[in-house]
Amino acid sequence: MNNRLTNGTVWSDIHGQPIHAHGGHMLFHDHYYYWYGEDRRNEFYVSCYRSKDLFNWEFRNHILTTSTPVAPIRVRTNTKLMNGSGGKVNLERPKVLFNQETKKFVLWVHYENGTNYNDAACAIATSDYPDKHFIYHGSFNPYGYMSRDCTLFQDDDGTAYFISAARDNADLHIYRLQQDYLNVESLVGKLWQGEYREAPAVFKRNGKYYMLTSFCTGWEPNQGKASMADAMDGPWEMLRNFGDETTYHTQPSFVLKRSEQEYLYFADRWNAADYFQSSYVTLPIEFEGDKPVLNNYSALTLERDANAITFEK
Ligand code: DGJ
Repeated sequence: MNNRLTNGTVWSDIHGQPIHAHGGHMLFHDHYYYWYGEDRRNEFYVSCYRSKDLFNWEFRNHILTTSTPVAPIRVRTNTKLMNGSGGKVNLERPKVLFNQETKKFVLWVHYENGTNYNDAACAIATSDYPDKHFIYHGSFNPYGYMSRDCTLFQDDDGTAYFISAARDNADLHIYRLQQDYLNVESLVGKLWQGEYREAPAVFKRNGKYYMLTSFCTGWEPNQGKASMADAMDGPWEMLRNFGDETTYHTQPSFVLKRSEQEYLYFADRWNAADYFQSSYVTLPIEFEGDKPVLNNYSALTLERDANAITFEK
């Protein structure tokens, strides 16, 4: 059993294989953490791992691949999973929520054509299981807007939101989703216009909403920023620095609420020269009052007896 993870390394699954779950998201369901993320190898798009302790990961499935079954939904979409020249498309930042009403696992992801970033769309897939093949429902532009870096957030009452970078990444949009999470219901916010925020990650703590973002510098890291609001519709506070000028060489992927007192910042340390050498970083989000603070740590250890995670400088 593994009890230690070193930040900035390519973590391995329980069989010693590198974990391919970049730009991903975690869902806690039926006593397991399910980790979804980008897997750009071969015919894969999104892979799924699961763990009971966040330290020992079992590969479960390539849940989205070039041969994923396709089914249209009520939204008019482009259902192609290969591009016009027969190559793979590009699916980034997959996020998955469980819909309590429909009992479906719903995945939203950033869709591009695989050649450039001109499509700037989102795409949806669903499954009856967290770790079996998903059904791909296609890509679209919400209300016709560009939609690149993205995330999902599910509120305590099940209301879900899709947050994505619009207007060539100049603005960040917040959309409330329809009850089955298969379409946007309304555009509830356009944030920080012209401030070029991407890689959004949203969490809720003590009734307040928090959003972490990066600036736009390709695969290179930059100064992270955090904002807070009393409602997802806002108003959102002006951005304040979060971490150092490179966010400790990371870009946000998602925040996992491990307990009422414990919020973990999961991030990517991209390798711009070799995507497949991109690694993972997990840091505790610490708070000064209700303000989130990010300090750097080199490793994390699971103290099994206390079921506590400790961090080493
Ligand atoms: C930064 C984004 O956060 C990534 O998901 C990816 O799109 C790179 N840009 C591409 O340069």
